[in-house]
Amino acid sequence: MRKRVFFLFTMVVMALMVGCGNHDKTPASVVDNSKETNTKHMKTIMIIDGDPRKNFNTASMLQKFAEGASSVSDQIEVKTVRLYDLDYKGCMSCMACKVKGKASNVCKYKDALTPILEEIAQADGLVLGSPIYFCDVTGQMRTFLERLAFPWLSYNDYSLTASKRMPVVLVETMNGTPERNNSNGYGSMEHCIAGALGEPERLIAYNTYQVKDYSRYELAGFSEEAKRQYRDEHWEEDLQRAFEAGRKMAYGIITK
Ligand SMILES: Cc1cc2nc3c(=O)[nH]c(=O)nc-3n(C[C@H](O)[C@H](O)[C@H](O)COP(=O)(O)O)c2cc1C
Repeated sequence: MRKRVFFLFTMVVMALMVGCGNHDKTPASVVDNSKETNTKHMKTIMIIDGDPRKNFNTASMLQKFAEGASSVSDQIEVKTVRLYDLDYKGCMSCMACKVKGKASNVCKYKDALTPILEEIAQADGLVLGSPIYFCDVTGQMRTFLERLAFPWLSYNDYSLTASKRMPVVLVETMNGTPERNNSNGYGSMEHCIAGALGEPERLIAYNTYQVKDYSRYELAGFSEEAKRQYRDEHWEEDLQRAFEAGRKMAYGIITK
């Protein structure tokens, strides 16, 4: 009898110990909590790439920016969105963002851009990148900007208000040189960005290589030699400036 009581007692103690052990090890709740805390501290920089080419000048500048930003802290999350991979439209003039009582400073039109615009509204920093096409940013970038900026604009008092203000860098790459270029940059959109998010910083790579081998194309208007010389003198510096701009933005965000 005493033996059976002792056996039962031992079993109960062991069951309790195992139970305690389980509680101690409930990694699920502990890990989840720490994850939640980490996520709360994560700061997001959104990079919007408006270039059709995946591995050329603009993409390289944006990649360097991302590397610079990520090098500051593992609490900086950098997300790059390639506009040419998305199926979306420009502002549809649906006026949904201006309906009385339901006005919104984030576009309400639903397509592939919707989640990106929602993420930008909550982001901590924004970078836009585009080559210059016929003096302006690419059509895809312009189309994106219509959707980004129209909801910021109040037709009551013409103020510009985003969900939150954040640092912005505008990246351009082009054939033009500092002395001779036809770029309007982000044009009228720069005014909207400055009003709603804050004065943007501009990062420009001039006189870029448009193709890898000039001898294969009808590009006699360019001297490949002059292009190469300019590139040798400036391209690494341009990439370094992009890296530093990334570091600066991330550092500003972290220490804010
Ligand atoms: C359709 C088209 C139009 C362009 N128009 C201009 C222009 O007006 N001014 C300029 O300086 N470069 C112009 N360029 C050159 C590009 O801006 C330049 O090669 C740029 O660095 C390309 O970016 P990527 O290498 O990232 O694609 C044009 C290129 C294309 C394809």
